[in-house]
Amino acid sequence: MKALVIGGGGREHAIVRALRRSAATDEVLCAPGNAGIAADAEVFPAIAADDVGAIVALAGERGVDLAVIGPEAALVVGVVDALEAAGVPAFGPSKAAAQLEGSKAFAKELMEEAMVPTASHVLLGSHEEGLAAVASVAYPTVLKADGLAAGKGVILCADEAEARAALDVFFTERRFGATTVVLEEFLYGEELSLLALCDGENVVPLAPAQDYKRIFDDDQGPNTGGMGSYSPVPGFGATAVEEIVERVHRPVVAAMAERGTPFHGVLYAGLMIGADGPKVLEFNVRFGDPETQAVLPRLRSDAVELFRAAREPGGLAGIGAEFEDDWAVTVVLASAGYPESSSKGDVISGLAEAARIAEVTHAGTATQGGEIVTAGGRVLNVTGLGPDPAAARDRAYDAARRISFEGMQIRGDIAARAVARVSSP
Ligand code: AMP
Ligand code: GLY
Repeated sequence: MKALVIGGGGREHAIVRALRRSAATDEVLCAPGNAGIAADAEVFPAIAADDVGAIVALAGERGVDLAVIGPEAALVVGVVDALEAAGVPAFGPSKAAAQLEGSKAFAKELMEEAMVPTASHVLLGSHEEGLAAVASVAYPTVLKADGLAAGKGVILCADEAEARAALDVFFTERRFGATTVVLEEFLYGEELSLLALCDGENVVPLAPAQDYKRIFDDDQGPNTGGMGSYSPVPGFGATAVEEIVERVHRPVVAAMAERGTPFHGVLYAGLMIGADGPKVLEFNVRFGDPETQAVLPRLRSDAVELFRAAREPGGLAGIGAEFEDDWAVTVVLASAGYPESSSKGDVISGLAEAARIAEVTHAGTATQGGEIVTAGGRVLNVTGLGPDPAAARDRAYDAARRISFEGMQIRGDIAARAVARVSSP
């Protein structure tokens, strides 16, 4: 079995490793990949993740048996449709189903139809409409660009002045390229990422995870793509997970099937768990980054079997995803300037030493003159495994401390909450 992974981040590195653990896998290719993935797969640095033509050509030339798509950008432009049309089995949603992530307006409409709990909202089509709306809402409130923004197109506003400034960012500066902005009720509670495999009909939850979105400790500073994660999550055992899947994932999968656009792949619900239960913050139609780096190392089931089953209508019936009891904590190492910018070309040291302690997956890395250098905002992920959250966390930080590069940014409080809860429940 020859697998092709599309993407070049930490998530894709974790997917490559999960595929390699399957007895069914003979060979793994990855486009574009990165400097670290190159050690685990044959990489194609010249093929961008959303270059559908080049991906289909590569899959055809190399006789790929299963393509697994990482990034949303590839999914919303229809890479799965194109691969399947060319006879290449592909794990992920169709272009139509990927609208659940590609358009927040679509996701809101679908949630309303399927009666899935979410924040109340209004759509703003112009700056003027926005100014009128922010003059009369309750604060804090939330403004979101409609469309893909790599986790950064969300602005939490404490008062009207901040909301006006956010409207400038969206409508005047056009920083996220959106023409529609969503104004949303601010939700209080605890965030949870619950990813599930879907086959158009059935929903198989993966282990829950928590993501740290802000750049600085204690959730300070701007939102990022994610600065760390851990799995499982105290308080969200099998019963709680089943309740969420029943209220959120199954109704969405049923509504998508009813529309004639069945959902296959990973449905990732970003949830706020508040006093009146879970509410959806957003849907993603793919594995989360960095949640995947903490979830997949714990997967005991065969990834190839699961991905293949999810491709078939109803193929997941009677199948579950099993996880090890070990805890996993992932710490992200980001480059100077992230999330506003990123620093490239800084030499990275200590990788081999870190890899002896924890699992190191690469994100924005490249090879330059025989050395591994930074090449993006999120550079590396270090995942520690252990029998309890404290052990997993210690391993992750012990390994992360062995790595250094100019301007390295790292949060110091990843999974601290889980450690505190498990030691004093
Ligand atoms: P999203 O990309 O929509 O998940 O938003 C990114 C982050 O912004 C979330 O993980 C939350 O931390 C925060 N956020 C988004 N929407 C809301 C909301 N309605 N209330 C409170 N926080 C939110
Ligand atoms: N960790 C957030 C995301 O993958 O969108």
